[in-house]
Amino acid sequence: MILVTGSAGFIGANFVLDWFAQHDEAVVSLDKLTYAGNLENLASLKGNPRHIFVQGDIGDAQLVGKLLAEHRPRAVVNFAAESHVDRSILGPGDFIQTNIVGTFHLLEAVRAYWQNLPPSAGGGVTRDSFRFLHVSTDEVYGSLAKDEPAFSETHRYEPNSPYSASKAASDHLVRAYHHTYGLPVLTTNCSNNYGPYHFPEKLIPLMIVNALAGKALPVYGDGQQIRDWLYVRDHCSAIRRVLEKGRLGEVYNVGGWNEKANLDIVHTVCALLDELRPRPDGKSYREQITFVTDRPGHDRRYAIDARKIERELGWKPAETFETGIRKTVQWYLDNQAWVSNVQSGSYRLWVEKNYAGRAR
Ligand code: NAD
Ligand code: DAU
Repeated sequence: MILVTGSAGFIGANFVLDWFAQHDEAVVSLDKLTYAGNLENLASLKGNPRHIFVQGDIGDAQLVGKLLAEHRPRAVVNFAAESHVDRSILGPGDFIQTNIVGTFHLLEAVRAYWQNLPPSAGGGVTRDSFRFLHVSTDEVYGSLAKDEPAFSETHRYEPNSPYSASKAASDHLVRAYHHTYGLPVLTTNCSNNYGPYHFPEKLIPLMIVNALAGKALPVYGDGQQIRDWLYVRDHCSAIRRVLEKGRLGEVYNVGGWNEKANLDIVHTVCALLDELRPRPDGKSYREQITFVTDRPGHDRRYAIDARKIERELGWKPAETFETGIRKTVQWYLDNQAWVSNVQSGSYRLWVEKNYAGRAR
């Protein structure tokens, strides 16, 4: 049994679905169900007795303590977070609350549980076998100049947005709980993910969804910022590998060696849509591209050096960017009901309030 937090969000849901495609082992899912968490992402697990979903906050140490005592998981995988940089710029409070304070309460509950486990040997979970895996981001390392080498695990922390600062703080807490209390932790810092169930406020799904709706495709600034893309199921396989084989207290950077400029990503999405769902007027979706005001403090370039996880744990991504992006565009074409469902509630109201009058 493992406990997965943030399991109704983009990567968490893919992780749980992927877990059941590989494992028999049961999962307890804990998710607050913010605007970004959708139970529809886990709909295919309905009725599966090995999956238990609990709505709740990682910051509720009492609830987490109760779940740990009741289910006695051998591992906790922590995806729960506020994840969108633009939202963190408009309102950092929730980011501080969940990513920092929430992670602290989660760690406290986990520490109390872990300290009461039997030390080693015997059946079931022990203090030696337990793992806390914290899922983090390459954004904690800040921005790279054009010719700088990709981020390795020893790159200095230099977060630039309230989101990345809050994730950096959570990484430091996790590290400190290992160093101070001996909690058996692992941390992964991953590059930009893309794939099914990606909330359509992030670049790739927003471009697909806006293109199909005949809306503007808002490119921030000159569109030459670089991100390093990884298909979400490859991130999931990396996390499984780190959970099983990672060395305690270590950090593993996860990435797919896929640096791309944002504008090139948008052009690729347009070309795929031109092929798979041509516009009725025969023109290219590229016509909808609109350059808009840049994101404040926008990081210019991220790139992950993924050699450590490959060398030590033998992990490599299975998808190329070309195969992954085609699958992704096709998934959004096939799942338009999902898109309208996730856009119908608090997300729509938030966009109306925060983006009134801006291309979106
Ligand atoms: P997401 O926003 O799609 O999902 C986050 C999930 O966490 C949602 O289901 C939400 O309801 C839940 N949640 C939020 N606050 C909570 C709380 N207080 N208690 C319990 N649940 C809560 O995010 P994502 O893109 O799936 O990212 C998951 C994790 O991976 C995050 O920690 C993020 O920092 C990290 N990460 C994301 C990427 C990426 O490209 N998306 C890359 C690297 C790392
Ligand atoms: O690098 C990992 C991070 O990737 C994760 O930690 C974050 O949780 C995740 O949201 C993502 O952050 P980014 O800020 O890189 O992702 P986003 O999709 O918001 O933006 C990707 C790039 O595209 C970025 O340079 C900003 C730009 N952009 C984004 C949007 C939403 C646009 O040009 N237009 C847009 O409308």
